[in-house]
Amino acid sequence: MKIAFHLFVHFSLLVFVSCYGGNGYDPLENVLKIQRSRRSISNHENNEDVTVQNSYTPVYVGPQDGLKEADKISELPGQPAGTNFDQYSGYVTVDPNHGRALFYYLAESPVNSSTNPLVLWLNGGPGCSSFGNGAMMELGPFRVNPDNTTLSPNKYAWNNVANVLFLESPAGVGFSYSNTSTDYQTGDIQTAKDSYTFLVNWLERFPEYKTRDFYITGESYAGHYIPQLAQLILQNNEITNQTVINLKGIAIGNAYIDDETANTGMFDYFWSHAIISDEIHEGIVSNCNFTEGGTKTVECDEYEGQAKAAKSNIFFYDIYAPLCSSSSNGTPSISEFDPCTENYIYSYLNTPAVQQSLHAKPIQWESCSGLIGLFWKDAPFTVLPVIQDLMASGISVWLYSGDTDGRVPVTSSRYAINKLQTSVKTPWYPWMYQGEVGGYVVGYQNLTFVTIRGAGHFVPSYQPARGLAFFSSFLEGKLP
Ligand SMILES: *[C@@H]1O[C@H](CO)[C@@H](O)[C@H](O)[C@H]1NC(C)=O
Ligand SMILES: *[C@@H]1O[C@H](CO)[C@@H](O)[C@H](O)[C@H]1NC(C)=O
Ligand SMILES: *[C@@H]1O[C@H](CO)[C@@H](O)[C@H](O)[C@H]1NC(C)=O
Ligand SMILES: *[C@@H]1O[C@H](CO)[C@@H](O)[C@H](O)[C@H]1NC(C)=O
Ligand SMILES: *[C@@H]1O[C@H](CO)[C@@H](O)[C@H](O)[C@H]1NC(C)=O
Ligand SMILES: *[C@@H]1O[C@H](CO)[C@@H](O)[C@H](O)[C@H]1NC(C)=O
Repeated sequence: MKIAFHLFVHFSLLVFVSCYGGNGYDPLENVLKIQRSRRSISNHENNEDVTVQNSYTPVYVGPQDGLKEADKISELPGQPAGTNFDQYSGYVTVDPNHGRALFYYLAESPVNSSTNPLVLWLNGGPGCSSFGNGAMMELGPFRVNPDNTTLSPNKYAWNNVANVLFLESPAGVGFSYSNTSTDYQTGDIQTAKDSYTFLVNWLERFPEYKTRDFYITGESYAGHYIPQLAQLILQNNEITNQTVINLKGIAIGNAYIDDETANTGMFDYFWSHAIISDEIHEGIVSNCNFTEGGTKTVECDEYEGQAKAAKSNIFFYDIYAPLCSSSSNGTPSISEFDPCTENYIYSYLNTPAVQQSLHAKPIQWESCSGLIGLFWKDAPFTVLPVIQDLMASGISVWLYSGDTDGRVPVTSSRYAINKLQTSVKTPWYPWMYQGEVGGYVVGYQNLTFVTIRGAGHFVPSYQPARGLAFFSSFLEGKLP
């Protein structure tokens, strides 16, 4: 295994310089295939629960003195004049013996930074960078221009209403790394533990945030990370003699939270959005058993293959969006998302001067690491039981969904919510933004579900204004 792993490390660097949707690249699909085949070999082997611990062992806390000042970004290359908020980035060591360190980027609020909440943002994949995708493409304060070297302000950035902390997680993703290469064989459990250790250390580095209201947000496969981390925080808060983290709520976008509904909802969405034929849809419905332990027949594989072929020429993270092609000449427009943005980010973040300004190690930065996904060790079939625990804990639990995403579509979220068996408190209604329907919202007991109309998988990229409106409501704790 070890030799194969090292060979793979080598090989992967050549092959997996990939980004979301580029040439049909789909990080989630790769991992799911692997998980599925593992489950059919050894069912339930990996069902260790991240929070099942009988006794609390304090997490590693390293010396943090002077590191906050060292992490302050004086200026990002190409940054627009008049930038009026503080930015920090750097590494937090989570395991000194292995030499494992996680990279973060903090964008503070221009106004009310000292009272605004602290919000952690996590991208999924597994293997995708929260800095390159989350901050630079979605909700961060800047967008990279088509010249690959200058930045434009994003006027709908989420740091307008919160101090936003982007974490590259786990090690091996983005700028995060480990000096022990076997650490790149990781999974849900280690990811939650490392993220928790990161937070405890980061709060020593930035003690002014220790008692601040804290929220966790993110999307896609962070549908696993967020509930698992939230549960670990709540559990440790009860027993720790270290920092108690003031967790107030979570919001997960286009959330990958349950394997069965992720599949059924996706194929139903393909059918209802005129991507696949009646025959393919019926073939999938009658031949595929997506429940836990359900077997995949040859017929099912055949129909799934046909469905994948049918959607292969569209960007299924935002089904009506244009593709990035040599003929599309990019415009750095916020309202009309430039489909080539990933290329500009890739080039910008691999510029030595940019990596230096970020205090990052000089590395080949990738949007998503295929290696991390390929060796993913553990992922429960569903995290709905964890979400149920969180719903009963009293923190606010929101799911939101861009309704033009085909990857983890709104149908999947609705089917998953049905499985949670909660009851409607505020019936479904359209929420308005600037005289238009921004999306729809339904309030359940202990759970809120919000759609963002006309947004794909990366909600703040495609509908920045509606995305910020939804996010502000979430922080205020009231329905939009
Ligand atoms: C990883 O190794 C390098 C080179 O020895 C060292 O400078 C760095 O501090 C190590 N990283 C961590 C997190 O210990
Ligand atoms: C800053 O906080 C004050 C007091 O809570 C509030 O009135 C004001 O609207 C806030 N400004 C912004 C830009 O959030
Ligand atoms: C926390 O508890 C551990 C034992 O569980 C102990 O070793 C450590 O010194 C304690 N830390 C503080 C700050 O009290
Ligand atoms: C799907 O598989 C599960 C688990 O093996 C089984 O209990 C269920 O009956 C199957 N459903 C159908 C419709 O065959
Ligand atoms: C920007 O970077 C991409 C590669 O990510 C490259 O294809 C493109 O030509 C670059 N654009 C400019 C203006 O240099
Ligand atoms: C909602 O939370 C309360 C306690 O906070 C709990 O008793 C109840 O079972 C929860 N309901 C659901 C559907 O999660």
